[in-house]
Amino acid sequence: MVISSIGPTLSRPGHDNPTSVRPVSASVAGRRREKPDWKGNGSSRLATILQLVRRLDSCPAVSPPAGWRLRHYEASIDVDVWLALREAAFADSPIAVRRWTPADFERELTAKSWWRPDLLWFVESAEEVVSLAGAGPRRAIGTATLAWRGSAGGGKPVIHWLGVLPEYRRRGVGRLLVAQLEQMVWHSGGREVGLETHAAWTDAVAFYRALGYREAASGR
Ligand SMILES: CC(C)(COP(=O)(O)OP(=O)(O)OC[C@H]1O[C@@H](n2cnc3c(N)ncnc32)[C@H](O)[C@@H]1OP(=O)(O)O)[C@@H](O)C(=O)NCCC(=O)NCCS
Repeated sequence: MVISSIGPTLSRPGHDNPTSVRPVSASVAGRRREKPDWKGNGSSRLATILQLVRRLDSCPAVSPPAGWRLRHYEASIDVDVWLALREAAFADSPIAVRRWTPADFERELTAKSWWRPDLLWFVESAEEVVSLAGAGPRRAIGTATLAWRGSAGGGKPVIHWLGVLPEYRRRGVGRLLVAQLEQMVWHSGGREVGLETHAAWTDAVAFYRALGYREAASGR
């Protein structure tokens, strides 16, 4: 199984996205879902989608360490930066992640009703990241986007497409990106942040749990 998209329920129904929004029964809605026909070979754990939330009790602090900087999407060249990051960050995924094109980026991000350039964030390192040098030196080592699930204005803020280059993991890049998104939610008046992930992405699940995210049913 190759997945095209992850994260919150942002894709159109019927798109090739196992986490895309489909109506689910009230008993499982918003909690933990299994895609019943997933391979049909006992690998259903791979299809388990976790919906996690964290309640914000105070404004999250955002303080990049020396040598790193946070910046948001600035120009169309950042599409290539983002695509390269996504590919590298998910290259070791236990679930194959389909390579995206600029058209996929547009469909899943810039064409969305919630899209704003200042919702997609990069962490850049002062070091040159030669592994992303396809179109010149790139310094981006992680990315995350704040998206909205549901109607514009009345929707819920969700973390979307979080990824960190493998060689920069366990240094706080992911924590910094999430803090940046959470701070934006706080300043917009929101007090809860959600996300979707796969149970098979054990690193991501451990990461979110370490940051205080819990399954929606018990996180409230
Ligand atoms: C999940 C991911 C974004 C974490 O990024 P990161 O920059 O390594 O995370 P951080 O360094 O900020 O980790 C913060 C804390 O989360 C926990 N954590 C992070 N990765 C962990 C792992 N692999 N195992 C256990 N705990 C982990 C730790 O408590 C860590 O703090 P510590 O290093 O001081 O112990 C990164 O592993 C990644 O890009 N994975 C592949 C893409 C992906 O799965 N994205 C999420 C899809 S929803």
